[in-house]
Amino acid sequence: MSQPLRHSDYPIQPQFLERWSPRAFADQPISEAELLTLFEAARWSPSASNLQPWRFIYGLKGEPEFAALLSLLVPFNEGWAKDAAALVFLTSVTTFDGERPVPTGSFDAGAAWMSLALQAHAQGLVAHAMYGIDFEKAPLVLGLPDTMKIEAAIAIGHRGDPQSLPEPLRAREIPSDRQPLDQMVFKGAFSGAFGA
Ligand SMILES: Cc1cc2nc3c(=O)[nH]c(=O)nc-3n(C[C@H](O)[C@H](O)[C@H](O)COP(=O)(O)O)c2cc1C
Repeated sequence: MSQPLRHSDYPIQPQFLERWSPRAFADQPISEAELLTLFEAARWSPSASNLQPWRFIYGLKGEPEFAALLSLLVPFNEGWAKDAAALVFLTSVTTFDGERPVPTGSFDAGAAWMSLALQAHAQGLVAHAMYGIDFEKAPLVLGLPDTMKIEAAIAIGHRGDPQSLPEPLRAREIPSDRQPLDQMVFKGAFSGAFGA
């Protein structure tokens, strides 16, 4: 499947340009071992004090857990993520002892997400993060204690034919661009306009 090429202003590893977040998935399962390989990559992510506060909860398509996890997505995401081969909820531990907070839990979980996404890309899979989650229902269904926070859901599978998507999504099924580097990088002190 051809796709417009992304360009970087400086030479970087191809994986950073090649990884993106499609919504069309092929009707092709992934094995538990393939999925666990993604978690293995995430496991080696860096975290503050090596606390490793990320926790993953997953379901494989065709198994009962998948339907339960799918029901936790907002309808927009449910509409396309139903075709994924696996669904994952990425959570973080907010305190290990009930007293001291883990202030970098979300940051660390973000690093773990990116490790997972790049490993998926290396395995010929796609991973699409989602924040469109029913945040009231999800902790109950996932069995989360108060000390765990939902960071994102992730749809994983083999990339599918964009024609399988309804029209509004089909048109959006292309890799996105990025703001120029000089709008996000500042030497010495921030000098952007109004934080934008
Ligand atoms: C934390 C997070 C939450 C996201 N939430 C959603 C979502 O709820 N639904 C969706 O379709 N895409 C979602 N996305 C995908 C982003 O829109 C996408 O990553 C972004 O447009 C950049 O495109 P790319 O990943 O293809 O490079 C999310 C991505 C991240 C990292």
